Amino acid sequence: MAPDLLAWYDRHARDLPWRVQPGGAPADPYRVWLSEVMLQQTTVAAVKAYFLRFTAIWPTVQDLAAAPDAQVMAEWAGLGYYARARNLLACARAVTAMGGFPDSRDGLQALPGIGAYTSAAIAAIAFDRAETVVDGNVERVVARLFAVQTPLPRAKLELVALADTLTPAARPGDYAQAMMDLGATICTPRSPACVICPLQAQCDARAQGIAAELPRKTPKAAKPLRQGTVWLGRQGEALLLEHRPPQGLLGGVLAFPSAGWDGRDLPPPGPADWRDLGTVRHVFTHFTLDLTVRIGTLAGNPTRGELVPLRQIDPAALPGLMRKVWDMARPHLTA
Ligand code: ADE
Ligand code: SF4
Repeated sequence: MAPDLLAWYDRHARDLPWRVQPGGAPADPYRVWLSEVMLQQTTVAAVKAYFLRFTAIWPTVQDLAAAPDAQVMAEWAGLGYYARARNLLACARAVTAMGGFPDSRDGLQALPGIGAYTSAAIAAIAFDRAETVVDGNVERVVARLFAVQTPLPRAKLELVALADTLTPAARPGDYAQAMMDLGATICTPRSPACVICPLQAQCDARAQGIAAELPRKTPKAAKPLRQGTVWLGRQGEALLLEHRPPQGLLGGVLAFPSAGWDGRDLPPPGPADWRDLGTVRHVFTHFTLDLTVRIGTLAGNPTRGELVPLRQIDPAALPGLMRKVWDMARPHLTA
């Protein structure tokens, strides 16, 4: 199966900024690591621009390790999951202190923010190790190739074991990325293009006519809905912002003061003529949030946060939730 897939990859590999040519020398571990961390739970399309920007500003892991925390957090804004950005810096500094990336899966997995998936991906793609890389795309392809009926998430270990039986000794990095590409472009979730698939002759789900039904899934419990309030406190040409607590949701990020949704039950950040602008909805991993947006002109000093001149506020540096708040408030901020 691997030779057929690699032959397909040689002709159809997606051209992505962190990749080398199929069959080429292994990729730079820094670029592989950075891209894999960014790609955890974020789409390839969204990651491309961030990856190019990070590698333009910080071409090596040593450069990134020397960067100020606040600059890295600001460049990360919009990618979400801010714990990843903090781990990214911790990892860059650990790797720099060690004199370079470890070249084995175990060594990699001991680093901050590098789990089972990322360690396998870096070991295979950057160090040519025959490690099996299993992400959501690969789970789907393997479930179909072997017509696995066990539903996810229970099937995970079974799928890893089956995927392991397919990993070749030669070109494991290209193979891993070929599986990802096949899952992303041909063996897609709803309507797999089996007629043009390089593995069609070896695929049990296709033979049984059940490709689109796999992998089966145990229905998820609905996400709970949380509610909270965010305050846009104005004073002259300035707007109130605060650094969020370092631990927890959006930890350490600069944001408009808010409460009620994140375990913090706080009053408004000062007396003002608060009025409602509306509600923004944002979907986090474990809950959906409806945040009521309130705006007002502060009467006197705020009780927390810092007043930042409007023209210094870069909406692109706000986390996604706060950018929605900004977008709602923007028309009310001018004069
Ligand atoms: N998703 C995660 N890692 C990837 C990679 N190296 N190429 C394409 N998609 C990916
Ligand atoms: Fe996926 Fe169809 Fe290819 Fe099987 S034949 S791996 S179901 S695209």
